[in-house]
Amino acid sequence: MSEEPKKIAVLKGGGSLERTVSLRSGARAQSALRRLGHEVVAIDVGADLVRQLLEVQPDAVFVALHGSDGEDGTVQGLLEAIGVPYTGSGPAACMRCTDKALAKYLMREAHIPTPEFAAFKESAIKDLGVAAALPSLERSIGFPIVAKPASQGSALGVKFARSAQELPGAIVGALSYDRKVVIERYIKGRDLAVSVLDAADGSLPADGSGAEPVALPVVEAIPREEEFYNYESRYEIGMTTFVCPAELPSGIAERAQELALETYRLLGCHGVARVDLMLEEETGELTVLETNVVPGLTETSLLPLAADAAEIWFDLLVQRILDSAFTR
Ligand SMILES: Nc1ncnc2c1ncn2[C@@H]1O[C@H](COP(=O)(O)OP(=O)(O)O)[C@@H](O)[C@H]1O
Ligand SMILES: [Mg+2]
Repeated sequence: MSEEPKKIAVLKGGGSLERTVSLRSGARAQSALRRLGHEVVAIDVGADLVRQLLEVQPDAVFVALHGSDGEDGTVQGLLEAIGVPYTGSGPAACMRCTDKALAKYLMREAHIPTPEFAAFKESAIKDLGVAAALPSLERSIGFPIVAKPASQGSALGVKFARSAQELPGAIVGALSYDRKVVIERYIKGRDLAVSVLDAADGSLPADGSGAEPVALPVVEAIPREEEFYNYESRYEIGMTTFVCPAELPSGIAERAQELALETYRLLGCHGVARVDLMLEEETGELTVLETNVVPGLTETSLLPLAADAAEIWFDLLVQRILDSAFTR
């Protein structure tokens, strides 16, 4: 199905905080799609998105939109409403992944290890007196505590609190990015990511259904400087080195891949996703932090790096993601 040239609309940009990254992901996807022989129409997502799609009449949409509307199921729902096939996960999976609180409750129910946590809406602080519950949450979670907006990416709004004095400030900081906050146990350890890709055409069952997802090699993000509070700038100024395949103790990579696949299936992902995990230094335990349904495709993004390590070169990666539009 992948050999025929198609008319593909690449959705990128948009109004989210991750606009710049999305423009870069989109530009790279466009070049790859052109090299693959497809006709490409780039759409910087805005108020005239639907009108443009109706005008262009693409065979499929390649979703390269990170952050809010692109990852939270809004755009996916819209594309279903107008009947255009699109890459990646459907609306429900997007909603489950983008809401870190929901994803963590689902993982906890399914016994997929995720750091101890609590989650509440801003309104619960004002209207339900959540502040009075903080001492007992602090006891059950234990310091340091991470406070993060339930739905953001690229470490935006991730705040750290070492003590009860610092916790309210961290919560308020995270709440400036979203109306819901997740507070969770800080895991001292190594930062890992496992990308999952649906199987290539060749390995599809004859009836074209039930493609088995595969986990790519593990990527480790190694900070060049252990600066607790300056988390966001660490990403901005490139103070992180990425290693793939990560050099891990025996059995850990396999276990991380297994957890990523379990999480991918649990949340109902389709096509592609990237699962972020932590490997705790003291216990050697792996926990799942979150799942990204529209992973970055830039020169420095983790998915292309992991695909390279599996000898899935960038154009093939893009074609595989495109195929996911036709296998739903
Ligand atoms: N509980 C935690 N313990 C230690 N580090 C964390 C924790 N939560 C987040 N981080 C750090 O912040 C980064 C971003 O957090 P993550 O949950 O992946 O959200 P997002 O990538 O959507 O901003 C992680 O990759 C990790 O380095
Ligand atoms: Mg992450």
